[in-house]
Amino acid sequence: MDFIPVNRPIIGEEEKRAVLDVVSSGMLVNPSYEGGKQVRAFEGKVKSLLGAKHVVAVNSGTAALHAVLMAMGVKAGDEVIVPSFTFLATANVVLACGAKPVFVDIREDYNMDPAAFRRAITKKTKAVIPVHIYGYPADMDEIREAAAAKSVKVIEDAAESLGATYKGTQTGRLSDAGCFSLYATKVATSGEGGAISTDDDELADLLRLVRNHGQVHGYDARHLGFNYRLPEMSAALASVQMDKLEGFLAARARNTKYLMERFSGVQGAKFTQDAADRTHVFYLYTLSLRKNRDRVAKSLHAAGVGTGVYWPIPVHRTPLYTKLGFSRKKLPMTDAAARKVLSLPVHPGLTKEDLERVGDSFVAAARELL
Ligand SMILES: Cc1ncc(COP(=O)(O)O)c(C=O)c1O
Repeated sequence: MDFIPVNRPIIGEEEKRAVLDVVSSGMLVNPSYEGGKQVRAFEGKVKSLLGAKHVVAVNSGTAALHAVLMAMGVKAGDEVIVPSFTFLATANVVLACGAKPVFVDIREDYNMDPAAFRRAITKKTKAVIPVHIYGYPADMDEIREAAAAKSVKVIEDAAESLGATYKGTQTGRLSDAGCFSLYATKVATSGEGGAISTDDDELADLLRLVRNHGQVHGYDARHLGFNYRLPEMSAALASVQMDKLEGFLAARARNTKYLMERFSGVQGAKFTQDAADRTHVFYLYTLSLRKNRDRVAKSLHAAGVGTGVYWPIPVHRTPLYTKLGFSRKKLPMTDAAARKVLSLPVHPGLTKEDLERVGDSFVAAARELL
């Protein structure tokens, strides 16, 4: 019996061929302002999916977020409002700029609470980073409205939400800049990688500089930057994944629908990301369990079913952020979510039998433990 991981990359012959072609060509990277042929082809595909004016590929979702903050000039003395119920990157990039992350609580759907965001705005607030958690869009209208009233920049952490829509618009296009991740478990991947979308010409120019040590023609640094370039091999792989994205997301939706129907009679497990005005890409299908979350996870593991807890420790309670004094902040919804969430496999690599095993083992665990 093969173990079913909660997520895994789905790589076919087309991806292997695309990578090998680049390896054989000898053009592994193109350190220019525009990026290499594969990078530009990948950017073009993301651009047409999103309908964005500019897409800038980078080598991780973290680099995407950091590059945007740098391009926006976020610096010491500034505050950036972020959720604590997220991956570390969302807040770490704020610290990396010397600025202060200001943590706010979430709603029942695990996304940033727009009212909490509004209350947290001060004269020092430069930007807000809502995260589309698990691939489910945050309440962007409320967030944008509150931000616009105080001239606060909005940056979407869309690391988990490539292909999701909010009121008909793709995530990443609902703000000043959207940041995507192509990490190995994401809905489309190049192992490591990322992309930024924006309609702002000036910002796009700065982002291209930041990803290439500020160079235009070579050794002519015009802005502080780093090596945030996506290698050509990774871009070629990501390009093929973009061609397959629609199919991947359809499979995730089908698998999730199967499990939702299977769990309709289960007591004590709640799904809360279901507003009619937005689509979920089900990067993660996550339930809130009223008790015994870790025992349920263990029981599924024994049945060969991987699960995930994203995230067991809110960012502001990690040892680093505790040391920096952030853990005093009261975020009750965040703390509750960290105790209760459990994600189940719905990735496109699941067979019918896999899916049945996920369903059966969860129903059995729920009967005993919830
Ligand atoms: C919400 C969120 N933000 C940021 C990131 C950072 O992306 P990466 O791992 O590509 O640096 C991730 C993914 O790992 C994520 O899930």
